[in-house]
Amino acid sequence: MKILVTGANGQLGNELRRQLDKSFAAEVFYTDVDTLDLTDAKSVEAYVANQEITHILNCASYTAVDRAEEEKMQCAKVNVDAVKNLAMAADAIGARIIHFSTDYVFDGTNHRPYKESDKVNPVSQYGTTKRKGETALLALSPDSIIIRTAWLYSPYGHNFVKTMLSLAEKNDVVKVVCDQIGTPTYARDLAIATVKVLGSRQWVPGIYHFTNEGAASWYDFAMAIFRIAGKKVSVVPISTADHPTLASRPPFSILDKTLIKATYGVEIPHWETALEDCLKEMGY
Ligand SMILES: NC(=O)c1ccc[n+]([C@@H]2O[C@H](COP(=O)([O-])OP(=O)(O)OC[C@H]3O[C@@H](n4cnc5c(N)ncnc54)[C@H](OP(=O)(O)O)[C@@H]3O)[C@@H](O)[C@H]2O)c1
Repeated sequence: MKILVTGANGQLGNELRRQLDKSFAAEVFYTDVDTLDLTDAKSVEAYVANQEITHILNCASYTAVDRAEEEKMQCAKVNVDAVKNLAMAADAIGARIIHFSTDYVFDGTNHRPYKESDKVNPVSQYGTTKRKGETALLALSPDSIIIRTAWLYSPYGHNFVKTMLSLAEKNDVVKVVCDQIGTPTYARDLAIATVKVLGSRQWVPGIYHFTNEGAASWYDFAMAIFRIAGKKVSVVPISTADHPTLASRPPFSILDKTLIKATYGVEIPHWETALEDCLKEMGY
């Protein structure tokens, strides 16, 4: 197996590196935009062919949800065009792709966890481009696996956990939205699940959902971060209407993980247990 991990400097890329280096016997090539810009079709095709890549784990993405509303072209280049480039390069030499997508492909009007087969209806540029990336990938390389995840955090990069910890350094009171419900996901657990899928005897293409178990509002998530990290901060719950952002977000985006558990035997920790592990890793 010769594996290409793209977006390797991001949250998931870093966690995949840790898992693959620890437990996976394969030759792995780690790239990010500085070493392999996925929007450059010729470079992607040449890299995949020259290194004789057998599997691609595409962790690269444009992930700035609000900025995407203003940088529509750049967002689409990374979340749609780059995915097409990878799909064509993989298809040319018979390589397989595991790609990552988002709960933001849904509009959040469900009242039960979203299944993979549920109707998508993204309400933001980011969600729209991620959905287009999904459909383009499955059209060009139908043997691909797509894992949708949500509310990702880790010791790496930018995320809600690090934002809250930084706010706690300068503020006694923090206001956090309490009417958007989802599931925080430690990128380590997604990386572990991905390695399990990759190492499985079976390869069942299609879309899967993966987050940690349980549900929370951003307010609940913030409360847990401060409690576990021992921060004395007063957290005020506010509504989405009181916290306008450039991009709309689904008010409810819990994902049903039955399929990935049944197909690949993936075991999933509760989000609070995972958060404790991450904060411990970060020195709290
Ligand atoms: N973060 C979340 O809360 C969240 C939620 C749901 C789903 N997801 C999905 O999970 C996956 C991993 O997310 P993440 O949080 O690990 O992302 P991330 O930390 O933002 O990492 C993405 C990486 O992709 C790189 N990249 C951007 N443009 C590129 C290009 N043209 N060529 C090659 N690399 C490029 C980025 O580099 P630069 O930093 O230099 O741009 C960055 O290192 C993504 O598919 C994302 O959509 C994330």
